[in-house]
Amino acid sequence: MSQSAHAQDLHRFPPPQSLVRSAHVSGRAAYDRLVAEAEADYEGYWARLAREFVQWKTPFTRILDSDDAPFYKWFEDGTLNVSFNCLDRHVAAGLGDKVAIIFEADDGTVTRTTYAQLLAQTCRMANVLKSLGVRKGDRVVIYMPMSVEGVVAMQACARIGAVHSVVFGGFSAHSLRDRIADTGAVVVVTADEQVRGGRSLPLKALVDEALALGGCGAVRNVIVYRRTGGTIAWQPRDLWMHEAAAAQPDICEPEWVGAEHPLFLLYTSGSTGKPKGVQHSSGGYLVQAAVTTKWTFDLHDGDVFWCTADIGWITGHTYITYGPLAIGATEVVFEGVPTYPDAGRFWQMIERHKVSVFYTAPTAIRSLIKAAEANAAVHPDRYDLTSLRLLGSVGEPINPAAWEWYHKHIGGGRCPIVDTWWQTETGGQMITPLPGATTLVPGSCTLPFPGIMAAIVDETGGDLPNGHSGILVIKRPWPGMIRTIWGDDARYRSSYYPADLRGCYLAGDGAARDADTGYFTIGGRIDDVLNVSGHRMGTMEIESALVSCTDLVAEAAVVGRPDDTTGEAICAFVVLKRARPTDDEAAQLAAELRSWVGKEIGPIAKPKDIRFADNLPKTRSGKIMRRLLRSVARGEAVTQDISTLENPAILQQLSQAH
Ligand code: WTA
Repeated sequence: MSQSAHAQDLHRFPPPQSLVRSAHVSGRAAYDRLVAEAEADYEGYWARLAREFVQWKTPFTRILDSDDAPFYKWFEDGTLNVSFNCLDRHVAAGLGDKVAIIFEADDGTVTRTTYAQLLAQTCRMANVLKSLGVRKGDRVVIYMPMSVEGVVAMQACARIGAVHSVVFGGFSAHSLRDRIADTGAVVVVTADEQVRGGRSLPLKALVDEALALGGCGAVRNVIVYRRTGGTIAWQPRDLWMHEAAAAQPDICEPEWVGAEHPLFLLYTSGSTGKPKGVQHSSGGYLVQAAVTTKWTFDLHDGDVFWCTADIGWITGHTYITYGPLAIGATEVVFEGVPTYPDAGRFWQMIERHKVSVFYTAPTAIRSLIKAAEANAAVHPDRYDLTSLRLLGSVGEPINPAAWEWYHKHIGGGRCPIVDTWWQTETGGQMITPLPGATTLVPGSCTLPFPGIMAAIVDETGGDLPNGHSGILVIKRPWPGMIRTIWGDDARYRSSYYPADLRGCYLAGDGAARDADTGYFTIGGRIDDVLNVSGHRMGTMEIESALVSCTDLVAEAAVVGRPDDTTGEAICAFVVLKRARPTDDEAAQLAAELRSWVGKEIGPIAKPKDIRFADNLPKTRSGKIMRRLLRSVARGEAVTQDISTLENPAILQQLSQAH
């Protein structure tokens, strides 16, 4: 055996025998059979899963309709209700007393909600929405902390066929306003405050601010969940959730909707300044959410599942609100942050709730590695993590060093790690190991979920053989896929189905496939989207926020640079309307601009580096040379050809960090 082959073997992790025996997809041969089934009869395969995982009110007779591609339709003539599938059917099956959600508050208080209770709460909330005149197809914006009530608000919308759009609680009033206005929401659901890391932060006040900014004329009511009881301003349109819910019956007949009825809109960043309202379906989405939850996390009776994502992101939608409940699982929902009261919080919660399957983001792992190395008291080795049997990772590439630490210190060397690649637009996991079937290689998300036709192509959509890197595409439509961008069919088509890719879905990531195994390794975005702590941020969005500071900023360019903890860091190059600042002024101005961006978009968008210059490097035709800025941001020597640069002298200025 050659040395490198031997080294590779050390970093291959076959599925543990115990898991192979009991897994839903048991052994590589079982995976291969599913892949072959999907290849032989693509529609038949998905139809089988759709019948197995979803209870339909009216069964579908049509599977995939491609007549109006890329506006694909799945199971179109079937009808269903998503909340019925997540709640009623488990209660009807005798699981009413099973715990659906173990909620742990920021201060450590724990509440348990059974399926029967969750159903009753959802029905009450659905009745509240109905009493306010919310009808099927109306949009409801949810701006909530991590809470049972947040999940209930989403399920209640699903119950009456209203379309929810959850806005992450870290977004500013401006971002919230843009989303409320774009959706044309009639109701906003929020909380008085949210509690994170021992601090109360306003939510309701930001809703008031957002609505005062204008453009949200369709909003009739704001429903407020009382989380802290802190003082808030009260408007005639406001009502307390607990008061309104108490007045409603705990039964609400589900609204049966067609499979293509939109379940939710979720805004995500793209290559332009304006976030896209990704529209998801009811039937196809639920099928993919349910089957991936069951197979990727290999959930069985008795498992306690914990996905640490926020319901404001797609991971929280699919692997908190919908997938786990659709299959009747027990899950942990956590209000707080991983570092409060100390950086042992995750490990302490795993021990306390006997979590068996744990799903988190590489950024959290990397920051907890640092914390554990700095302070032995919060090292995971000090906690009893023996309840764990499976780990997961999502949102960004996990570097092999972090993978190995996660495997060794959290998984005790016995738990497989499912590194799941997917996107807001894909609805559910797309490329991922199945824990009882796939041999793991750190840093690789391995192979497509059975029935997902992922491939790597060149710029013209031509297939590239294994051993090459290129553009990651999905060759055939899949049930959980985005249906359109809300109100912008043309943008949907041009963003995801560009003409030169021969009908393939363009994911926006680069990837490579291993020559021998065909395993995928994701290389990161190939467009102007950054991934900061697993959060997607468009560079153009941050640039427009900076230039909207019209008193100060003349021009701005934003690029990413690698960062040890957050994956990528935001680096902004700014030309001021006044003379370039001295070093002292620069620090002050940078702080001002950071807080400006925080107010415009949200704290997650604040640039880590801000550098001032008299000008930006441009070609003679006026195009900003971003590749060059990326080198400068990384502190690399500029190797690009700068002969077309209008003003080479500014390179010197740009290299000076503040
Ligand atoms: C990145 C999050 C590498 C990727 C579910 C993708 C990943 C973007 C992985 C989507 C992974 C997600 N390995 N990169 N396992 N998972 N990504 O829409 O760049 O917030 O396009 O969805 O995150 O981010 P989004």
